[in-house]
Amino acid sequence: MAQQQAEIGIIGGSGLYNMPGLTDTTEITVDTPFGAPSETIVLGTLEGRKVAFLARHGRGHRILPSELNFRANIYAMKSLGVEFILSISAVGSLKAEHKPTDFVIPDQFIDRTFARNATFFGDGIVGHVAFGDPVCAVAAKAFKQGCDDAGVVGKLGGTYVNMEGPQFSTRAESNLYRSWGADVIGMTNLQEAKLAREAEISYATLAMVTDYDCWYEGHDDVTVDQVIKVIHENTANAQRVLAGAIRALPKSNSDTPCASALKYAIMTDKKLIP
Ligand code: ADE
Repeated sequence: MAQQQAEIGIIGGSGLYNMPGLTDTTEITVDTPFGAPSETIVLGTLEGRKVAFLARHGRGHRILPSELNFRANIYAMKSLGVEFILSISAVGSLKAEHKPTDFVIPDQFIDRTFARNATFFGDGIVGHVAFGDPVCAVAAKAFKQGCDDAGVVGKLGGTYVNMEGPQFSTRAESNLYRSWGADVIGMTNLQEAKLAREAEISYATLAMVTDYDCWYEGHDDVTVDQVIKVIHENTANAQRVLAGAIRALPKSNSDTPCASALKYAIMTDKKLIP
C-alpha cells in the first residue's frame, strides 16, 4: 500500500459537513474503481492522529441515502490507509428511553434496504465475510469513552434499523420495528459497516437521536426541520465525543478480528483470482 495518509476515517452525516479542530488540513480528491466518493476528503490531524474526514451526503447535503456510492466512500478510506472508521449519523428513536440529543452506539443492524450495492465481491470473485458482530467492539468502546469524557448520554449497544428512505417510515412500519425490539432507525450505516468489514477496516457508528419517528403518541411525527434543529443543538457535543473517541482508539486495528475478516471469506478458487 502507498504511504499511510490517514489512520482514522470520519464519515460525517447530516449536519456534520466539516470537522472544526482538524489542524494541518489538506483537501484531496480521491478517485476509485467504483467512481467518486461523496465529496473531496479533508486530511488533517486531530488529537495527534492522522484523520481523513468525508461528508457522507456531500457538503450542502446533495446526495440521497439511496444515491450514496458506499463502495467509493469505503474504498477511498482504505486507499488512504485508514484502519478505523468512526461514523456519525442522525437517527430516529424507537424507544421512549432514547431521547432526542442522546447518543446510541449500536452493536446490531437490521437491513430494510433494497436498492444498494454493499459488497466489493462479484465479477468472478465470491466471498462471504462473517458479520454476526457487525460493529468493531474496540471502536464502539472508544465512542463510549468519548461520550463519557464529554459528559453526554452515550449508550453502548442497540439495534439500528437501516431503512431505504428517502421517505420516513409509516406508523405501521415504525411499530413493527419496535415490536422487533429495535432501538433506532436511520438510512445509511449498515452498508458502510458491511463494506468496512470486507475492507478489513474496524467500523463503529455514533447515532445521534433527533426524533421519535412517528410511533410515539403525544410527540410530533418526525420532520426534517426537527432533525436539523436537534443536530444543530448537538453538533458541538458530537465533535467533542469524536475527539474523545480518537484519543481512546489504539494505534492500529491489528488486534481486532476486523483486521483479518477476509481470512476465511473467499470461496473462489485462489488459482482463478488474478
Ligand atoms: N434520521 C433521523 N431521524 C430518522 C427517522 N425517524 N427515520 C429514519 N432516518 C432518520
